[in-house]
Amino acid sequence: MQSTPPALSDTDMRDIISDHLHLEGPLLPILHALQEAAGHVPADATALIAEALNISKAEVHGVISFYHDFRDHPTGRHVIRICRAEACQSMGANALSEAVLAKLGLDWHGTTANGAVTIEPVYCLGMCACAPAAMVDGKVVGRVDAARMAKLLEEAGA
Ligand code: FES
Repeated sequence: MQSTPPALSDTDMRDIISDHLHLEGPLLPILHALQEAAGHVPADATALIAEALNISKAEVHGVISFYHDFRDHPTGRHVIRICRAEACQSMGANALSEAVLAKLGLDWHGTTANGAVTIEPVYCLGMCACAPAAMVDGKVVGRVDAARMAKLLEEAGA
């Protein structure tokens, strides 16, 4: 089971940021490292990053919002990502997604009330030949029909 990462203190975040300042183009590696440590990019990190890189908070926020991989909020214990790209759409991913969101009463990026599952969109998992595809806690799953999705949700405790 995926456990919920601990909250990061300002000192933790400053340490992570300074560990990457020597890199060329450190912003993305910093954001990845923060998300790896906290499960998302904490809101308080934006000002710390902006200060360390001498850029505006708006620039940092813009990058976080642009890349689908970054989250600005904590997730549930499990993250199920459903592919919304073309090959999966042609194999029923839209209907599958709508059914999942309706069943759980969530919008994209929403988390079930029991904190078990967050549903996120993803845009191609490289599994187009096995569409529709999904990813559960980083593990790719192909040919996800309604029955398979119901089992994945049940196993995740949704
Ligand atoms: S389009 Fe869904 S895995 Fe490629």
